[in-house]
Parts: sequence; structure tokens; C-alpha cells
Amino acid sequence: MKPTPSGYRPPARWLHWLTALLVLLMIPAGLIMVREGLPRPVQDTLFLFHKNAGVIVFLLMVVRLIYRWRNPPPPLPASVPDWQRLAARLSHGALYLLAILLPITGYVRVRADRYPIEGLDALGIGTMLPKSEALAGAASELHETLAFLLIAVLLVHLAAAIQHAVVKRDGIWARMWPPTG
Ligand code: HEM
Ligand code: HEM
Repeated sequence: MKPTPSGYRPPARWLHWLTALLVLLMIPAGLIMVREGLPRPVQDTLFLFHKNAGVIVFLLMVVRLIYRWRNPPPPLPASVPDWQRLAARLSHGALYLLAILLPITGYVRVRADRYPIEGLDALGIGTMLPKSEALAGAASELHETLAFLLIAVLLVHLAAAIQHAVVKRDGIWARMWPPTG
């Protein structure tokens, strides 16, 4: 099917906003749950949410990439300068990559230490990873670095979105919002 020229198709929009909601909740959850001195029930709840929502983000990102491959996004309007096209391509590529690598490193970090991932456990999906503190430690370091990279790219992404929506009003915002198309 050909993309509608005016914006992303509704499934691409729904997938974007659903992942955005989850990721924007998971980042503060992740940052808070690693702090010392949290009441145990609060920490457990945040970990439970963070790990399981992360698995859902991974699945959503895979679906998004397949959908995008089958339904390429419409071209940007001619008014967008070349450097902004490049910036959009690079930052969107980075967001896809980071939102795939973060759940993978999170998964390895948790499973190599034999901690539960409740949703996967309930489905009987175990792990083939060896128990390894070294692997868990390396995955933890990488997860943290990738998380801060994601936060940095997201700040740019949000600033660009607000700029298009409020200052330029050039239709870029309306390519993605509302989710119903
Ligand atoms: C409130 C937060 C957010 C706002 C306001 C926002 C806004 C937007 C807008 C307006 C676009 C369309 C850009 C265009 O037409 O070229 C877009 C695309 C995109 N956003 Fe966001 N976004 C948000 C959060 C996120 C988050 C958390 C992620 C991380 C996974 C994300 C990943 C992406 C990606 C990968 C694209 C490109 C989609 C594609 O071409 O397939 N966004 N965003
Ligand atoms: C889009 C997906 C994800 C994002 C944005 C994300 C983000 C974060 C952030 C910001 C932190 C706090 C920084 C730190 O590491 O100290 C964190 C920590 C953590 N995350 Fe994630 N995460 C994601 C997916 C996952 C998944 C799928 C799991 C496990 C199944 C997971 C497990 C953990 C664990 C266990 C920590 C605590 C740090 C540690 O003990 O090594 N994360 N995450």
C-alpha cells in the first residue's frame, strides 16, 4: 500500500505513542528504582513494571520496524532543509536502535543473574543464558550507558517536536498526532 502523503498511517501513529508512553514512564521508574533507601514494596513494584514494560517495548519496536518496512513513512515536506532531514534520519535511527538494545541489555542483565521477568516466566519462557556475574555486570554497565544516550537523543527529539508544533507550525507535528490519523 502507498503511504498517505499527509502523514504517518494510524497504526504507525498508535505504535509510536504507545511506545513513547511506556518509555517515558520506564525512564523515571529505572532512575528511581536503583536509588538506595527506597521502601522495599516501592522498589519491587518499580522493578516489576520496568522489566515487564521493557519486554513489551521490545515487541512493539520489532512490530514497528516490520510495519515501517512494509509501509514506508511519507516524504517530509519540501520546506524542511537538508540538514534537518539528515538530523531526523539519524535521530530516528538512533531511537530505533536504542529502544531495541535497551531491552536486550536489560534482559541479559536480569537473566544472567537469574532474576525473574514475571511476564515471560508466566508464559513459561525461560532463558538459555548462563548464570554469570561478569555477564550481568557488563550488561548492567551497557544498559546504563545506553539509557543515558537515549535520554540525550530524546531531549533533542522532544525539542524538535515542540519547535515544529509551536514555533514553525509546518505540519510535521500533524504527521504523527493525533494517533487516529
Ligand atoms: C512526548 C514525547 C514525544 C513526542 C512529542 C514525539 C513526537 C514525534 C513526532 C512529531 C514525530 C514525527 C516526525 C516526522 O514526521 O518526521 C516522531 C517520530 C518518531 N519518534 Fe517520537 N515523540 C515522542 C516520544 C518518542 C519516544 C519516547 C521515542 C522512543 C522510542 C520516539 C521515537 C520516534 C521515532 C523512532 C520516530 C520516527 C518514526 C518513523 O519514521 O518510523 N518518540 N515523534
Ligand atoms: C526501552 C527499554 C528500557 C529503558 C528505556 C530502560 C531504562 C533504564 C534506566 C534509565 C535505568 C536506570 C539507570 C541505571 O542503569 O542505573 C535502568 C535500569 C535497569 N533496567 Fe532498564 N530500561 C529498559 C528496559 C529494561 C528491560 C527490558 C529490563 C529487564 C528485563 C531492564 C532492567 C533494568 C535493571 C535490572 C536496571 C537496574 C540497573 C542494574 O541493576 O543493573 N530494563 N533502565
